[in-house]
Amino acid sequence: MLRVGVFGVGHLGKFHLNNWKSIEEVNISGFFDPSDEISAEVEEKYGIKRFPSAEELMEICDIVDIAAPTTYHFDLCKMAILKSKHVFVEKPMAHTMDEAREIVKLVKEADVKFQVGHVERFNPAFIATKEYISQPMFIEVHRLAQFNPRGTDVSVILDLMIHDIDIILSIVKSNVKHLSASGVTVLSDTPDIANVRIEFDNGCVANLTSSRISMKKMRKMRFFQKDAYIGIDFLSKKTEVIRYKTEKDKNALTFDIDTGHGAKTIAVIAPEVKESNAILDELRSFVQAIHSDLTPRVSELDGYLAMEVAHQILDKIKKNQPN
Ligand SMILES: NC(=O)c1ccc[n+]([C@@H]2O[C@H](COP(=O)([O-])OP(=O)(O)OC[C@H]3O[C@@H](n4cnc5c(N)ncnc54)[C@H](O)[C@@H]3O)[C@@H](O)[C@H]2O)c1
Repeated sequence: MLRVGVFGVGHLGKFHLNNWKSIEEVNISGFFDPSDEISAEVEEKYGIKRFPSAEELMEICDIVDIAAPTTYHFDLCKMAILKSKHVFVEKPMAHTMDEAREIVKLVKEADVKFQVGHVERFNPAFIATKEYISQPMFIEVHRLAQFNPRGTDVSVILDLMIHDIDIILSIVKSNVKHLSASGVTVLSDTPDIANVRIEFDNGCVANLTSSRISMKKMRKMRFFQKDAYIGIDFLSKKTEVIRYKTEKDKNALTFDIDTGHGAKTIAVIAPEVKESNAILDELRSFVQAIHSDLTPRVSELDGYLAMEVAHQILDKIKKNQPN
């Protein structure tokens, strides 16, 4: 039985507690959170022991689950890795690139499992459509949220856009060639809304818009490639694929298009999305990686690469600020 300690039991930490409870191979040893108010609520509601310090809880667990604000991720990760504990840390894995670099080095030296909470990789709508995506040349992304002071310790790039950066890097296996970005700081101390264009060496272009000051929520990603259009709604979990009809599309809705050089049959497909709990799936997947001695689905290197692009974007935004 693996023993897990949860560090930070605010909004997301409580979801983690609920999900750890339903993983058979894991026992929750306790939690650490500096807030007396939140801790009292969690102790009463979940019946889980509060530890007086992060150090004391770390001593007695095998998995350190970090859901504290981003600016605390590095210190907690470092402490855990130096104690040879497996670490699950919420996204982004750290705040600065120096911190991310140090974490990658420490994980390698300690030979522990390390997973970053890029939970959209486990979103059932993404999983259902992934097999249709091959060599996209143009990607259009919108991730919009209403304002909430939670998460504003970092910019919208590290808070929200990092989800999409990670998904795109998991698909486009090519280096970033050029990047342009513009962002505006409105309600917090860092950019709250941003638009970014990433050009990859293989010719793919990704256009990302993220906002945490919108009136409505939206989490959409659209891929355009030679033979298909693929749309994913990460929020409503809806999918859409429109492509030239293939052998596999026998039952799909079809229509014909006169291209001027003959007719083409187009298939409209809605890949079936299995109902699932993405947080439970990512935590289970981490436990599986520990048991089977495998690299976690979203490793420290994945977390590092997403942060590297995020920081390039932040640098561009800084340079483009009006005087
Ligand atoms: N994967 C996702 O989709 C997703 C969604 C929301 C938040 N997050 C990430 O989760 C993390 C927490 O976000 P949240 O929305 O739950 O914030 P929150 O403010 O609701 O909760 C953070 C909790 O951590 C506690 N805390 C502060 N310092 C701590 C420390 N040194 N050690 C342990 N606990 C400490 C706070 O008291 C608070 O209870 C952030 O890194 C955020 O980016 C990820």
